[in-house]
Amino acid sequence: MSEAQVLLEVKDLKKHFPIHRGVFKKVVGHVKAVDGVSFRLRAGETLGLVGESGCGKTTVGRMIMGAYRPTSGNVWFQPPNGQPRIDLADIRPKQMKPLRRHIQMVFQDPFASLNPRMTVRQILAEPLVVNKVAKGRELEARVRELVELVGLKLIHLNRYPHAFSGGQRQRISIARAMALYPCVIVADEPTSALDVSVQAQIVNLSLEIQDKIGVAYLFISHDLGLVRHFSKKIVLMYVGRVVEYAPAEPLFARPRHPYTEALMSNVPSTRPEMVGHKIILEGDPADPINPPSGCPFHPRCLYAEEMCATVEPPLMEVEPEHLVACHFADVLNLTGCDALGCAV
Ligand SMILES: Nc1ncnc2c1ncn2[C@@H]1O[C@H](COP(=O)(O)OP(=O)(O)OP(=O)(O)O)[C@@H](O)[C@H]1O
Ligand SMILES: [Mg+2]
Repeated sequence: MSEAQVLLEVKDLKKHFPIHRGVFKKVVGHVKAVDGVSFRLRAGETLGLVGESGCGKTTVGRMIMGAYRPTSGNVWFQPPNGQPRIDLADIRPKQMKPLRRHIQMVFQDPFASLNPRMTVRQILAEPLVVNKVAKGRELEARVRELVELVGLKLIHLNRYPHAFSGGQRQRISIARAMALYPCVIVADEPTSALDVSVQAQIVNLSLEIQDKIGVAYLFISHDLGLVRHFSKKIVLMYVGRVVEYAPAEPLFARPRHPYTEALMSNVPSTRPEMVGHKIILEGDPADPINPPSGCPFHPRCLYAEEMCATVEPPLMEVEPEHLVACHFADVLNLTGCDALGCAV
């Protein structure tokens, strides 16, 4: 079977935020929020982007959305109409405008991202009106279709966001993101503000929509256990860099980076005897202003050797499509989620 078309190709993407000091706003350093991230997202598939707080996930999402201009690197986007691919990292806001409808975002906090003064009908109609996609009866029909797509009822159309639960509000955000038939959705921790039971509903809804309309998701999360079951591939980030990038199945069966192993050991297990196998990472995540030399993970790594402090490991392919940035990826025998019986 031939693979689906690559819609997004992020290549060696970097974002260094300048740090200003003093009355003259002199640049005294940089926050290396994203420092060389590459991955591909294919049509209709889900890619999980995972890592601890502050590792640069949202900054990657914002660069894809055109909200931040990258310091360097590329964000190649394939428009759905067969036009040549375009580097979103290198276009003017005016050129970005017609492309924006193809890539939409769903945010963590569904309350902050919905205008409290607009009814659901107005919220869903707005992108269609602004982009001159529909008006009159056609507009009302599309709004109704959207509300049904996300499992809400027509009587909800006249209500304001405050009259909904967190899960329902996230459904409205998803409906709004789907209004313009996007081909890519960047979902930034869309379930982390919700109760666990509601989280599952939102994940299931997202998958149902994917089945129906074939949209691709870049699903940003700090929770490896959550993304496991619906991501085709997973990218693990550590202080702005990719440490491991692989298809989900081999990754969970046999992680190759010690950071991935540590995250997996903390995914809840169905086997009580596995509680003792948790790897507690000592120390704080590295500081993106002054990341450690060599491998940025080495001060916290259980397996670090002398060279890890001085030589930065390149991201290398250890098996087809399985990329790892660790000097010892081939020799370490790390424990994956399957061996730990991580909860389904
Ligand atoms: N506009 C900005 N100016 C300066 N530094 C920033 C800016 N935005 C983010 N950062 C810094 O960049 C780093 C990465 O931030 P980012 O929000 O991308 O992380 P994240 O992985 O999304 O974290 P979380 O899981 O907490 O949402 C952090 O150190 C953050 O403080
Ligand atoms: Mg974030």
